[in-house]
Amino acid sequence: MVARERLDALFDAGSFTEIDSFVTHRSSDFGLDQQRFEGDSVVTGHGTVDGRRVFAYAQDFTVLGGSLSEAASLKICKIMDHAVKTGAPIVGINDSGGARIQEGVLSLAGYGEIFKRNVLASGVVPQITIVAGPAAGGAVYSPAITDFIFMVDKVGQMYITGPDVVKAVTGEQVSLEELGGAGMHAARSGVAHFLSPDEKSCYEHVRALLSYLPSNNTESPPVAPSDDDPERRDEALTSVVPDDPSRAYDMYDVIRLIVDDGSVLPVHERFAPNIICGFARMDGKTVGIVGQQPAHLAGVLDIDASDKAARFVRFCDAFNVPIVTLVDVPGFMPGTAQEFGGIIRHGAKLIYAYAEATVPKVTVITRKAYGGAYIVMGSKHLRGDVNLAWPSAEIAVMGPDGAVNIIHRTEISEAADQAGRRIELIGEYREKFANPYIAAQRGFIDDVIDPAETRLHVVRALRMLESKVDSVPPKKHGNIPL
Ligand code: HXC
Repeated sequence: MVARERLDALFDAGSFTEIDSFVTHRSSDFGLDQQRFEGDSVVTGHGTVDGRRVFAYAQDFTVLGGSLSEAASLKICKIMDHAVKTGAPIVGINDSGGARIQEGVLSLAGYGEIFKRNVLASGVVPQITIVAGPAAGGAVYSPAITDFIFMVDKVGQMYITGPDVVKAVTGEQVSLEELGGAGMHAARSGVAHFLSPDEKSCYEHVRALLSYLPSNNTESPPVAPSDDDPERRDEALTSVVPDDPSRAYDMYDVIRLIVDDGSVLPVHERFAPNIICGFARMDGKTVGIVGQQPAHLAGVLDIDASDKAARFVRFCDAFNVPIVTLVDVPGFMPGTAQEFGGIIRHGAKLIYAYAEATVPKVTVITRKAYGGAYIVMGSKHLRGDVNLAWPSAEIAVMGPDGAVNIIHRTEISEAADQAGRRIELIGEYREKFANPYIAAQRGFIDDVIDPAETRLHVVRALRMLESKVDSVPPKKHGNIPL
């Protein structure tokens, strides 16, 4: 697609209003005076998505490879300023060879002005990026500051330097697709939150995301009434968690059974699949769902899962989206790879994000909630508002096997039947700790609920919390461990 087709696909039919279509660049170096195009290398303006105002720009690769001139940057900055002043989301469609080389520092300054606006708009209006072509060099950093990046498969590419420079500097031989393709960024680097199979579905996907979001941080998300009974019981929930605590199940089954119409929009679906983040609605209102995925790495918290969920929680908090957390977590991932990679500082981000968030927070423990991971995942101690558990919940410092090996080491080694004694002790530990009742006696869990009634309880909690007001101590800003 070309730039105007893309904007037509994004906006409600006929709603796009273009701004600055007469602007041209003013450079005459390197023969640029012979190559002036009305509008230069970007189409900018505003329109509506489902009737709500959205600002957008689309880089035009047919004009000098969509490269960013000073004039193009001024056009983009103008609509960003309108978006912030009017409180409307910004969608940037990227398809560009980067800084316009002939314009030198003027083009770099243009990027700087855009980055600055991205930062100042962060947490004020939602910022969404679509990568529908190359995004090379420093040009990747405006997208990286925005809230969500969509990449179109086999079309979008993002890299700091292309394969030629990589080969010259490191000797590595790598294709464009391997280095910066949509598949890599969606599954491996986590730079892309959404992977769209083609351009048309990408714009539908962006519209779907916008339907969950408020236009700015002073508004509540839009309400989409549904026929799905908010207090519906669902017996299927009673059999989702297997009897054997080491067997996996799919947390998406739980999510689909409790949200409106079984509908969820996963964010970062392919990246760190051991944790699920996504938008859904309950009682017609947007919620951010965070939940372990026991079907992948047993739902362990590792570096990528911590980063993914921390950023999602902070987005929800910034834009008044209540957070529903579904917990089944065996703990943080052990091992040198994780320690060398800094699991300590990455895991700390998730603690920080949950503790800082003042939006309504409702947590349901479906099975394991062990150790530090119990604390992290929306616990009462990190300002969880309503904390619920299924009878299958196991809340303990660690799993029964590991715990028994440590606290009964001597007893086991001295027993005549070591294996038998070990099994006995594991049973005793499980009986005593691997349940939700001790936590419930302390009020860390507000109620142990029938799984079939999860939707009802979560909806009632969200209704109760609708008028919640909470804050953090006044400060310039905190110092999240980045
Ligand atoms: C000026 C550019 C340009 C650029 C492409 N063009 N990139 N003109 N400045 N940065 C022009 C080409 O000269 C060509 O013009 C037309 O756009 C189409 O480009 P092609 O190369 O023919 O297209 P294609 O083969 O599809 O390759 C696309 C590409 C490649 C992979 C993006 O053009 C490319 O590698 N461009 C340079 C990428 C780059 O390194 N940019 C600078 C990064 S540094 P004609 O007239 O022949 O049609 C940077 C700093 C930002 O961006 C810093 C911010 C902090």
